[in-house]
Amino acid sequence: AHSHGTGPFIAAIDQGTTSSRCIVFDRDGRIVSVDQKEHEQIFPKPGWVEHNATEIWTNVQEVVAGAIRKAGITRDDVLAIGITNQRETTLLWDRNTGEPVHNAIVWQDTRTDGLCKELGRNVGQDRFRRQTGLPLSSYFAGPKARWLLDNVEGLRERAEAGDILFGTMDSWVIWNLTGGTDGGRHVTDVTNASRTMLMSLHTMEWDPSIAASIGVPMEMLPEIRSSSEVYGEVKGGSLGELLGGIPVASALGDQQAALFGQTCFSEGEAKSTYGTGTFMLMNTSNKIINSYSGLLTTVGYRIGDQEPVYALEGSIAVTGSLVQWMRDQMGLIKSAAEIETLASSVEDNGGAYFVPAFSGLFAPYWRSDARGVIAGLTRYVTKAHIARAVLEATAWQTREITDAMTKDSGVELTALKVDGGMTSNNLLMQTLSDVLDAPVVRPMVAETTCLGAAYAAGLAVGFWPDTDALRANWRRAAEWTPRMDADKRDREYKSWLKAVERTMGWIE
Ligand code: G3P
Repeated sequence: AHSHGTGPFIAAIDQGTTSSRCIVFDRDGRIVSVDQKEHEQIFPKPGWVEHNATEIWTNVQEVVAGAIRKAGITRDDVLAIGITNQRETTLLWDRNTGEPVHNAIVWQDTRTDGLCKELGRNVGQDRFRRQTGLPLSSYFAGPKARWLLDNVEGLRERAEAGDILFGTMDSWVIWNLTGGTDGGRHVTDVTNASRTMLMSLHTMEWDPSIAASIGVPMEMLPEIRSSSEVYGEVKGGSLGELLGGIPVASALGDQQAALFGQTCFSEGEAKSTYGTGTFMLMNTSNKIINSYSGLLTTVGYRIGDQEPVYALEGSIAVTGSLVQWMRDQMGLIKSAAEIETLASSVEDNGGAYFVPAFSGLFAPYWRSDARGVIAGLTRYVTKAHIARAVLEATAWQTREITDAMTKDSGVELTALKVDGGMTSNNLLMQTLSDVLDAPVVRPMVAETTCLGAAYAAGLAVGFWPDTDALRANWRRAAEWTPRMDADKRDREYKSWLKAVERTMGWIE
């Protein structure tokens, strides 16, 4: 049934926030097969989010086997495997047993809020900003590792003895794929490392003095490698038989992978990915641009021993996960797709604005003390209006980060390249174009995260010769253009900003 040729192929694993998936791609960057599995979201307390890393590794093995089976191919057809992952989510595990010492602490988790405030008082914001490109926020990995060391009994001693390994999900997956306790490679890539708040953007190495001030022993940190090179080969585990010997040849944080998959290889090119959260990244080539508007400075990617490429990022914590919350916690819809039907049954938001500051507010505010609000309620408001406010929240949050990008880069937005699961929502895409007052463009393969990981792995093993060959694969599938009149846009934006103010300072 597939129009793809006979291979060879590249497989990409995306270990995401809500699910793990594996996609097999052909040389034209087309999808040959997909397999996917959700994992449990664990909410032990308000503001806390955890994942069971053992469940995740089991799921990863299953979806890889599933995608290979569905593609009807064997080991000999797979040239390399690439990895992409939810970023910042932090795990510590025992190198001798391979057992996690605690659930992974997810990027959305706010438990390190107090710790970050303390670091701000004792060390100062500026030092972290200058070295790592990041504001002090509970979002990043380093303080999460410190929390584990402080709160799991006996852990610090074990870590200092060299028995404990630290990793974001890329490291966990690669270590397990390449043999685990039997010689697994303990590595991470520059993009994932740039989210730990422990790496210097200037040297691309761990910064010992920052690590010391956060309280993370250097012994447990993985080796930092490029995003596109062979880290090792598949060995052991349930995949050993199926894919043993296949090179593991890329790692990129999911948002950087999407930048790569959207082929934003030139300075000024940007994309916005609509998943659990939403993240807009702009390629700034070899320049480390400091943001004055609440954006992050981060690593875009590094291909082998080439110069690293940097990026500016606008991060939004809650977009798709708000739709999930409407489904799972509120029970207002039965499926995520239903949000569009419900929202389309009314003309507008009925005066309601929903600011989903569930993990505090990320860009451009970086306020861990914010919590969600629904503002503007009257008796008139129905669940359909709330559904509309849910979608508008994603659009307005994007508007705030595109405004920040324009300020920092001086480049006006002429069109926004989008991707990710939520882009199948037409009403959302139209609303986005309306509030941005710019065209919104989606490529043929909306799974750009996996595609980017596949591209980086394929480059490492010579499956694609260079980035120009990848650009040639990019094809436009859909475009939305603005239809809202300017007065209405301005009025709505003001109301949105008023609602945003109401979220701040909720946590003392
Ligand atoms: O920084 C968090 C981000 O990497 C999560 O992405 O797609 O799982 O929402 P996603």
